[in-house]
Amino acid sequence: MQEIEKTLADFINICAASLGIAEEMLAEPTVEGVAAVESTAAMESGAVLPLAYLIAEDAEVYADTAHSAISAISACTACRLCETRTLVVPGEGVENPLVMIIGEGPGADEDRTGRPFVGRAGQLLDKMIASIGLSREKNCFIANVVKCRPPGNRNPSQDEIDACFPYLQKQIVMLQPKIILCAGKISAQRLFDSSLGINAIRGSFSEYDTGIDGSAAIPLLATYHPSAVLRDESLKRPAWEDLKLLRSKLEEMGLDIGLL
Ligand code: URA
Repeated sequence: MQEIEKTLADFINICAASLGIAEEMLAEPTVEGVAAVESTAAMESGAVLPLAYLIAEDAEVYADTAHSAISAISACTACRLCETRTLVVPGEGVENPLVMIIGEGPGADEDRTGRPFVGRAGQLLDKMIASIGLSREKNCFIANVVKCRPPGNRNPSQDEIDACFPYLQKQIVMLQPKIILCAGKISAQRLFDSSLGINAIRGSFSEYDTGIDGSAAIPLLATYHPSAVLRDESLKRPAWEDLKLLRSKLEEMGLDIGLL
C-alpha cells in the first residue's frame, strides 16, 4: 500500500509540474485515487501521461479534477465495454510527441496490463517505428480509439467508438503531436472521417482538425495495423513505404528525430 501511495504522490506531482500547479494545491492521495492508480498499471512506468491531465480543461480546473478524473476514466461506464474489461488502457508515451500512433482497441495482453500494444502486434509496432528512429519511450505516444477491450478481440462497434472518442480528442489536444499515425482501418476511418478501406486511405497525408480555434491542423497518415502485417507478409512492403513517408514528413517539418 505504501508503495502505491508513493506512486500516486509522484504521479500527482508530475501532473502538477506539467501544468505549473503548486503541489500544495493538490489534495492528499485518496483511497479512491490509490485504487484508480493501482488499476491503471501503465502509469507506473513513468512514461505514461496521467489521464487526469488529458481530461482537465485547463490548469485551474485541473487541481480540482485530478483525483476525480483519474477515478472517472477507471470507472468509465460510457459503453458496454466496461462490463467485460479488466483494466482501462489510456495510452502511454511522451508529452508533445513527434508522432501519436492510434490503434483500434486493447487486446487481451493490453487488458491485463493496462498498457497499449504490448502483445505480438505491439512488439511488431515497436520494431516498425524503431526502424525510423521512433519509440514510445523517446518521441511517440501510443493510444487507441477505444480504451477498453472489445471481448473476443472483435472490432469496436460504432457506438463504442463514439462513446470513447471524446477521450481521444482531448488526448490529441493536450498532447499536441506533430503527426498522427493511424494503425489500421478502424482508427483510419474515424480520424480521416472516411468510410473507405485502409488500402484507399493509406499512402498519403491528410489533416486532422482539432476543432480548437487557432490550433493548426495536424498531419494525418494511416498504415496497416501490425496485426494485419503479422497475418499477411505482403503488407510489409507497403507498411514500410508508409513509414518512410512518415519519416520524410518529419524531416520536411524540420523535426529532430535523432540518428537511426
Ligand atoms: N491492437 C490495438 O489496436 N491496440 C492495442 O493496444 C493492441 C492491439
